[in-house]
Amino acid sequence: MLSIPENTLTHGTTGEPITIPQLGYGVFQVPDSQTEDVTGEALDIGYRHIDTAAIYGNESGVGRAIAASSIPRQELFVTTKLWNDDQGHDTALAAFDTSLGKLGLDYVDLYLIHWPAPEKGLFVETWAAFEKILASGRARAIGVSNFLPEHLDLLAQHSSITPAVNQIELHPRLAQHTSREYAQSRGIEIEAWSPLGQGTILDDPTIAKIAAAQGKSVAQIILRWHIEQGHTVLSKSVTPARMRDNADIFDFALTAEDSAAIAGLNTDSRVGPNPLELN
Ligand SMILES: NC(=O)c1ccc[n+]([C@@H]2O[C@H](COP(=O)([O-])OP(=O)(O)OC[C@H]3O[C@@H](n4cnc5c(N)ncnc54)[C@H](OP(=O)(O)O)[C@@H]3O)[C@@H](O)[C@H]2O)c1
Repeated sequence: MLSIPENTLTHGTTGEPITIPQLGYGVFQVPDSQTEDVTGEALDIGYRHIDTAAIYGNESGVGRAIAASSIPRQELFVTTKLWNDDQGHDTALAAFDTSLGKLGLDYVDLYLIHWPAPEKGLFVETWAAFEKILASGRARAIGVSNFLPEHLDLLAQHSSITPAVNQIELHPRLAQHTSREYAQSRGIEIEAWSPLGQGTILDDPTIAKIAAAQGKSVAQIILRWHIEQGHTVLSKSVTPARMRDNADIFDFALTAEDSAAIAGLNTDSRVGPNPLELN
């Protein structure tokens, strides 16, 4: 049976620590009609951490896969996210109810503000609603996604609960040093989205060389690099062989030279939107 290491989340002074499987299965861009099958496959392989979002339109599919599985709810870690259009206090509370209903769950393990959407100017007010959701027990942890340090600073000035997580684009070409150092200094867990750069890094010759020497695939080398960086990583594939490959990364280690070579690939290049520009 696959054994995935766990990281620990905290809500600083107010919450009790919560563990999170370090490798999660993401369902971005998976049609709802396919989501039940691929999520069920992921659970069969041994993934226990599922990452969805209201905007993905597939919370129902995730919910159907969970309902069809015999895995006890407490062994799963389920994340969903509030979409930008629903930012604001009352709208966030209503959107959370809708997400829980689609998932068919009594609680989620983690609820995230998907983007800061800075032009809206609503994420502080939204966070107040998130604090109420946390207090109600219907989310075990609350956090943010795509927040820059300036957004986290503003939140800290106007709230008492530090986000447990900041889920950001992170891969060998986007090392995110500033956001990672900021998060580390405040006890915020970093989750890496698009860990393979949405597949664009898979033809990198430096990583291909490491993969050949290690007898592993390029995707396995990149995902192993994430694991060794210590953050949580969200991997997505709808292809069962790749889903298995991506989870089979816990029986080898990169050499110091491998890690240094991968660190040298950073070009601060995004595959997704700039958080300052998506509103
Ligand atoms: N918070 C946010 O704003 C945000 C944004 C984006 C993503 N996310 C989260 O992060 C998760 C992962 O990100 P992502 O889906 O954008 O990108 P990704 O995981 O970096 O890349 C996914 C792509 O790589 C391919 N792939 C996966 N494993 C492979 C392998 N072993 N060999 C070859 N190709 C492989 C997949 O193809 P197939 O599926 O066709 O196999 C898919 O095209 C998402 O599902 C979502 O949960 C969050």
